[in-house]
Amino acid sequence: MKILVIGGGGREHAICHALSLDESVTALYCAPGNPGIAGVAELRAVDALDPDAVAKLAAELGADLVIVGPEAPLVAGVADAVRAAGIAVFGPSKAAARLEGSKAFAKDVMAAAGVPTAEAFVCSTPEEAARALDAFGPPYVVKDDALAAGKGVVVTEDRDDALAHANACGRVVIEEYLDGPEVSLFALSDGTTVLPLQPAQDFKRVGDEDAGPNTGGMGAYSPLPWAPENLVADVLERVLQPTVDELRRQGTPFVGLLYAGLALTKRGVRVIEFNARFGDPETQVVLPLLKSPLAQLLLHAATGTLGAVEPLQWHDGAAVTVVLAASGYPGTPRGGDRITGIDEAEMTDAVTVYQAGTATNDAGELVASGGRVLAVTGRAADLASARDLAYAALGRIELPGGHHRTDIAAKAISGLISVP
Ligand code: AMP
Ligand code: GLY
Repeated sequence: MKILVIGGGGREHAICHALSLDESVTALYCAPGNPGIAGVAELRAVDALDPDAVAKLAAELGADLVIVGPEAPLVAGVADAVRAAGIAVFGPSKAAARLEGSKAFAKDVMAAAGVPTAEAFVCSTPEEAARALDAFGPPYVVKDDALAAGKGVVVTEDRDDALAHANACGRVVIEEYLDGPEVSLFALSDGTTVLPLQPAQDFKRVGDEDAGPNTGGMGAYSPLPWAPENLVADVLERVLQPTVDELRRQGTPFVGLLYAGLALTKRGVRVIEFNARFGDPETQVVLPLLKSPLAQLLLHAATGTLGAVEPLQWHDGAAVTVVLAASGYPGTPRGGDRITGIDEAEMTDAVTVYQAGTATNDAGELVASGGRVLAVTGRAADLASARDLAYAALGRIELPGGHHRTDIAAKAISGLISVP
């Protein structure tokens, strides 16, 4: 099978890495890719936001399957164009991707499907925003209605800050604060059948102990030793299946990766958000643990035959990934700093360094070119060993001005996470 992956971040590196281990893959292309992905796939240049250009490239390459990694191409209609060209595509249509692209649309789908989520108001004026903030009280949760790469959300005790964010965004969703540990659960969907993967936890804030602003994600681990035993079955029944059923009922079937960001609250599981693609950096821990060959699974999802798939197989043990971010992130990241030590960090098969914001400079050196630069994953028999491996590997990498969290998976290992 010939596969074209669209995107060029750490998530696409993890997807390509997993596909490169699947014997049924005879050719693997990634567009535009990055220097790390070039180690496992052949790179092609493309404007990933141009649906016709992507469809044309897929046809030229004779791709049997196109996998769209990031949200922006999905929202731009890339999957629609590829599908219209008669090529199987793993990734939802523009209409179904609104589940991620518009928080207000996601709330409407959840209401129609009876899916538990935070109560919310959609507000377009300062007066409406003020009323909504006062209806819930602190802590305040204000979300930009548009795509914001995980950075459009402000959670604060300060009413003035909450109001200022609402006014700066224009249309916002203001919602009830959900307390309880967060879970990221990915599921493959062919529009009808839903196949959940193993849950992970992401670290959204930039600093240790969840200090500082939100980011795209600073680290992740899987599995979750503290998760209730029936979590996946419960979320499948109450969240994932009803959402997929509702989208199909609306005439916009969801084909691709449905990512539920969940809070396990006192009153049960609640959806924080949906994404229409693999999460980053959770993918960098979930896919290394997946034993079932990935290409076949994604092809089944893309062609409506997920119901025929055998139960998924997982490696024993755990994985931890730590993100190395560039100076300035999550504000404006500084580009051009040289990255060294990746080969030394990948000391065994149990460590993989996934590249995200990297580029090659004129001298042929690897340099930072984005906010999140690398995700360093360790895989081991248990969470504590996986964490030690990831941090030991990260310690061998140099990036001037680079920063990372030091507490990824620490609370889970110490038994400090509990479900209220
Ligand atoms: P989102 O982009 O919706 O995933 O939000 C980013 C992060 O903000 C989430 O991962 C949570 O940590 C936090 N957050 C979002 N919504 C809520 C909420 N209703 N209650 C508490 N925290 C939230
Ligand atoms: N890890 C959060 C996201 O991918 O949106």
